[in-house]
Amino acid sequence: MAVNWNREDNIAIIWIDNPPVNAMSHSVRERLSLALNEVNADTGIEASIIACRGKTFVAGADVKEFGKPPLAPFLNDLVQLIEDSAKPVIAAIHGKALGGGFEIALAAHGRIAAPDAQFGLPEVKLGIIPGAGGTQRLPRLIGVAAAIDMIATGKSISAPHARNLGLIDIVSQNELIADALAFARTLIHSEPRRTGQLPIAKFDEQTAELQILAVEQKARGQISPGEAARMVLRGANVPIEQGLKLERDKFLELVGSEQAVALRHVFVAERLAAKFDELADILPRPIQSVGIAGAGLMGAGIAVTFADADYDVTVVERDTLSIDEGQKRVDAIYERAVKSGRISNAIKEERLTRISFHSDLNAFTKCDLVIEAVFDDLGVKRELFTCLASIVRPDTILATNTSYLDPDAIASVVPDPSRFIGLHFFSPANMMRLVEVVKTKEIAPDVLATGLAVAKRLGKLGIVSGVCEGFIGNRLFTAYREQCDFMLEDGALPHEIDNAVEAYGFPMGPYAVTDLAGLDISWARRKRDADKRDPALRYVPIADRLCEAGRFGQKSGSGYYIYDGGRKLVDPIVTALIEAISSEKGIIRRPFEPDEIIARIIAGIVTEADKILSEGISLRPSDIDLVLINGYGYPAWCGGPMFRTGRAK
Ligand code: 3HC
Repeated sequence: MAVNWNREDNIAIIWIDNPPVNAMSHSVRERLSLALNEVNADTGIEASIIACRGKTFVAGADVKEFGKPPLAPFLNDLVQLIEDSAKPVIAAIHGKALGGGFEIALAAHGRIAAPDAQFGLPEVKLGIIPGAGGTQRLPRLIGVAAAIDMIATGKSISAPHARNLGLIDIVSQNELIADALAFARTLIHSEPRRTGQLPIAKFDEQTAELQILAVEQKARGQISPGEAARMVLRGANVPIEQGLKLERDKFLELVGSEQAVALRHVFVAERLAAKFDELADILPRPIQSVGIAGAGLMGAGIAVTFADADYDVTVVERDTLSIDEGQKRVDAIYERAVKSGRISNAIKEERLTRISFHSDLNAFTKCDLVIEAVFDDLGVKRELFTCLASIVRPDTILATNTSYLDPDAIASVVPDPSRFIGLHFFSPANMMRLVEVVKTKEIAPDVLATGLAVAKRLGKLGIVSGVCEGFIGNRLFTAYREQCDFMLEDGALPHEIDNAVEAYGFPMGPYAVTDLAGLDISWARRKRDADKRDPALRYVPIADRLCEAGRFGQKSGSGYYIYDGGRKLVDPIVTALIEAISSEKGIIRRPFEPDEIIARIIAGIVTEADKILSEGISLRPSDIDLVLINGYGYPAWCGGPMFRTGRAK
C-alpha cells in the first residue's frame, strides 16, 4: 500500500511509502487524498502528520507520468486539500523534499525536519516551473527575492538554512516522528497557519525585475528559469487563487514544451548511465583512502574533489618545492570557494585536514585507490605504475587520468591489469561534472563498478568509455572543432560561429574558448604529429598561421580575436588571413546563417558519434549527449545531438 495511516492517541500519522523516492504517482495521489479525507472525517483525530517511509520524503511529482494525460486527483488539488484542512497538518521531513514534495510541505500548517533534510524546487531543471503552488507559497514564507533565487536555480538548501529563512519551524534534534508528535500537540485547538493566506513581505518591484532579468540572462535561452522567476513576481501582485491558476496554466504549457521533453531525456539518460546488465550483481570495492600522484592543476583539482566528498586524500609530489606549489594550488581552490560564498572558512579548514602531502610513493601503501595525474607522457606514466604496483596492496585500484594516451599501454606494466582503470576528469576537476570511466581491456567488473560508484559519491556523472584516442569526449570535440574550421574556410568568420553557438546555448563559442585556453599547446602537438597526418584528409591551417604570427590567444593579446583591455574585438587581420587561406585553396567563400552553422556542427558530431557507437567505445547514444552536456557546455535543454537527430529517445 503506497499510503496508509495510523493513530497515536488523537494524532494521525499518514505514511507515504512509494520507493525508491516516494514520487507522487497517480496511485499515491489517490491514496493520499483518501487518507486525508478519512482523517478529516474522523472525529477522534485532532491533527495529522505527513511522513515518509524509506530514505527520503517525497522527491517530487512522478516524472514518468509527464507527457501522459494527467489523471485526477491532481497534485495541486491535493496540496490545496492539505492547506484547507480544518485540523492542523504537519510535514515531518527527512531526506529530500523536492518539487511536489516540497510543495506538500509548504501547504502543511507546520514543518519539522531532520537535521540532514534538504529542500528544493528543481522543476526548472526539467524545463518546467513548480505546478502545485511552489511559486506562490514559497515567497509567503521567505520573501520574493529568496524565493526567486531558490526557484530559478533549482538548488536545494539544508534544514538549518531553511530554519533560518523561516521555511521550516523546527529542526528535530531527537527522533523525527516523536518530535513531530510533540509539535502537533502544540498546534491542536489553534487555527491552522495557512501559508497561502500569509501576506508577502514588502519587496521592491524594480529590484525583483532586475533579479529576473539576471536569471533570464544566465539561462542563455533556457525558458523555465525566467518563467519560474516571473511567476513569483506575478503571483506576488494578485490574490493567491489567481496566482495559483496562473502557475498551473504555465506549468501545463511548459510540461509539453520541446525544452521540457529534452530535459526529461537528460533526466532519464543520467539515471541510465550507470546501469549495465553485466554489473547488476557486482559490488563495488569499498574506497575511503585515495592517493593522487601529482599535484599540478589537475591533481590539485582531483584532490579537492575527493576531499569534498569525505575521502581521506594522500597526495604525492616529487620534492618539497612541488609539494609546496601543490598545497598552494589546493589552498587557492578553497580560497576561491570561500570568497564566492560557496563554503565557509571553517569548512575550508576542515577539508584541508583531509588532504596530506608527501614526497614518497610509499605514502600510498594504505590507499584503496590511486589516481595518477602526472605529465601526459607514456614513459613517465609507465615508470610510475611499475613503481606503484610494487608498493600498494594487491587489491588497490590503479587509475590513470590521461586524456590522450592509451590506458591499456600504461596498464601493461602492472602485473595484474584487471585492477587498472581510466578515470578521466575534466578541468577544472573540482568544478566539472563529467568523469569518463575508461574500461580498459583487462578490467575486472568490480573495478569498473567501483569507478562508477566513486564518480557518483563525488557528485559527478560517470560515463563509461572504451579505449580510443581522446575517448568519447575529446573525439567528439575534435569533430565539432573540425566542422567549425571547415566553415571558416568555406566562408564563416570566427565571431559568426561563436555567436551562433552561444545563441544556441553554449556558454562560449569554440574560438573564444580557444583564445582563452591558448593556441600554443595544440600547435606544438600538431607540429609533433605532422608526419602522422593523412595528406588525403582536409587540413585547415588557420590556427597554425595565427600561431606563426605570435597570436596565442588572450595571454598574448590576440588570437582569433584581438583583445583591448578586457574587450574581445573582431580583428580585420584575422578576417584577411582566413580569406587568404580560402583563396589559396580555391574556395569560393559564402555566407553561413546561424541555423546552418548549428546544423553542420550537429551533423559533424553525430557522424563521429555513430562511429564511436559502432566501435563499441560508447555503449549508448544517450551517453554521447551526456558527455557533450556535462563536459563541453552543450545546452542540456536542447537534449544533445543524439536526441535532436532521433538517435536517442
Ligand atoms: N519521479 C519518478 N521517478 C523518480 C523521481 C521522480 N520525481 N526522482 C527519482 N526517480 C527515480 C529515478 O528515475 C530512479 O529510478 P531507477 O532506479 O528506475 O533508475 C530512482 O528514482 C532513484 O533515483 P536516483 O538514481 O536519482 O537516486 P539518488 O538517490 O541518486 O537521488 C533524488 C535521489 C535526489 C531524489 C534524485 O532522484 C532527484 O533529484 N530526483 C528528481 C527530483 C525532482 O526533479 N523533483 C521534481 C519533480 S517535478 C515536480 O515535482 C512538479 C511539481 O511541481 C508539480
